[in-house]
Amino acid sequence: MKKFLSLTQGLHGELEVPGDKSISHRSIILSSLGDTAVEVTNFLAGADCLSTVACMKALGAKIERSGDAILIKGNGLHGLREAENILDAGNSGTTLRLLMGLLAPQKFLTIFTGDDSLRRRPMARVIKPLSQMGASIFGRNSNKNLPITILPAEKNLRGITYAMPVASAQVKSAILLAGLFAEGVTTVIEPAPSRDHTEKMLAAFGARLEKSGNAIKIFPAEKLTAPEKISVPGDISSAAYWLVLATILDGSDVTIKNVGVNDTRTGILDVLKLMGAQIELLNERISGGERAADLRVVSSKIHGVEFGGKMIPRLIDEIPALAVAAAFAEGTTIIRDVGELRVKETDRLAAIVEEFNKISPATFTATDESLIIRGGGEKFFAECKTRADHRMAMSLAIFGAAAKGVAIDDADCVKISYPNFFDTLK
Ligand code: S3P
Repeated sequence: MKKFLSLTQGLHGELEVPGDKSISHRSIILSSLGDTAVEVTNFLAGADCLSTVACMKALGAKIERSGDAILIKGNGLHGLREAENILDAGNSGTTLRLLMGLLAPQKFLTIFTGDDSLRRRPMARVIKPLSQMGASIFGRNSNKNLPITILPAEKNLRGITYAMPVASAQVKSAILLAGLFAEGVTTVIEPAPSRDHTEKMLAAFGARLEKSGNAIKIFPAEKLTAPEKISVPGDISSAAYWLVLATILDGSDVTIKNVGVNDTRTGILDVLKLMGAQIELLNERISGGERAADLRVVSSKIHGVEFGGKMIPRLIDEIPALAVAAAFAEGTTIIRDVGELRVKETDRLAAIVEEFNKISPATFTATDESLIIRGGGEKFFAECKTRADHRMAMSLAIFGAAAKGVAIDDADCVKISYPNFFDTLK
């Protein structure tokens, strides 16, 4: 158990958060498919993105570290080769699902595995559309869990039109990557917009995409043209912990520099502001095709809100942190349409209800699809389990910091997305 004490005063000063996890994964994958060298700066060297690096290297990509940057020398769109061993995606759903899309069209065999958490997560959502495109992909059981085998594609995949049942950027990205290699046009239709970093980066690499409403079309590519440099903005999902903590701790005034504020990711800002938080976007700019800004947050009294629907994909990873904010708000917060939280690194709805209630009893309840938080309850010191989920660990840490302290069983899992989180907290 690692113990964190409560903070007795507000947070002050400036900080930076590590590079965006979603953009870091995509920078490695797409740069490996160009013909020229790419320098990726502010790359997130967290365990998930390092899983992508290891898998891409096993597939023949040339990737090196150079100080804080990553250098990638692409082998061209058709330059991947069969890995000599099983590919291990670790804890990373993004690595696995995006690479399933990239590898389904290839003329060689791939076998994937992952850690205990990833082996339980649903993969049928990717296997189904890729199979419709003509890929031969098999999961372990009727749930199509890992290990997953992709047989060498005997002929080119064919473009399809696919209406996704869940809003998932990982599924969308897998289909778009497969579509690059398919015969004919591939169209994905999302039920609600999910993060669009893949589309933005594919366009920056010269791929032809067309967007109309919730439909995205990708045309087969002959080659990708890599930019010389990709500068990854800070991860708003990591900034979320400080946005919440500074909001609820009296007397705080914090500026988080260089945070990615792509519209498909800023639900956390919208909802915190709706709750009464004071957050300002400063120095807004475009960096590498993505919007970035400095975020200044000052503590404030917040109140409960109700939201769901299209907002959810815009803040799906920030719900544990938002639930902490809601526990300090006046009144009740109702978050609808969050069934997807049950299939994240752990069942986050169950984890929030069981672990967060140890700190603030009778505050958190969940139904199949909703999370209800009654703010203002009494807070206690508690010993909590992270369930090896990085976002649970960081949310519990800020919860304890704003309450009476917390002890968590596994602080190490923050290395997935935010390796120096606890140094920053200290
Ligand atoms: C991600 C998409 C989201 C998110 C995950 C990262 C991505 O998952 O939860 O942390 O980089 O595409 P889903 O696509 O399953 O919603």
